[in-house]
Amino acid sequence: MSIIPITVYGDKILREVAKPVQQVDDNIIQIIRDMFETMRNASGIGLAANQVGLSEKIFVVDISVVEGYENYKPVVMINPRILDKSEELEIFEEGCLSLPNLRADVERPKIIKVSYLDTDEKEQEIEANELFARVILHEYDHLIGKMIPDRVSSTVKKRLQNELYDIRNRDVKVDYPITEK
Ligand code: NI
Repeated sequence: MSIIPITVYGDKILREVAKPVQQVDDNIIQIIRDMFETMRNASGIGLAANQVGLSEKIFVVDISVVEGYENYKPVVMINPRILDKSEELEIFEEGCLSLPNLRADVERPKIIKVSYLDTDEKEQEIEANELFARVILHEYDHLIGKMIPDRVSSTVKKRLQNELYDIRNRDVKVDYPITEK
C-alpha cells in the first residue's frame, strides 16, 4: 500500500468528468487500497479517485471516525449514480482534502438514494441521509469535476477567492502530501 500525493485546487484533473470503470481488476483494487490509506493519512472521511490522480468513477467513504457515526462501515462506490434526492435540504460546513484549510457552508439534499458497483462488481442500492448522504454527494461531485466553490453562492465564492489563490499556489500549510505545482 502507498500514500499518494493529493491533487489540489488548480490541478486540471479535478475539473474533468471521470470515466466509468470498465472492470474491477487487481489494478483497481490496489488503487482503492491506496485511496483508503491516503484518505486516512490525511484524516479525511471521503476521497475520490481524481484526488489521487486517476480520472475514474471511484470514491471511498469512511465516516466511522465521526462521533455518532461509529457504526458506519467504510464503503467503496464504483460508477455511482444518484437515483433520488430529497427536496428537503440541509446546510452544513464542509471541507475537502483538495482545498486544504478551506471551510464553507454547503446546502445539499438531506436524503439520497444511490446505486453503485461494489468491489465484486455487484450492483448495490442504498438510501443515505445526513452526514453519510453529504459525503457521498461531495465525492460524487468530484467525479463530475465539481468542488465546494461550485456549490456556494457567488458572494461566498468571492469571499473564498484569496484562499483559493493561496491553495493553487501551494501557499498553505498541509500535514499530508499534496501534488507539486
Ligand atoms: Ni473533496
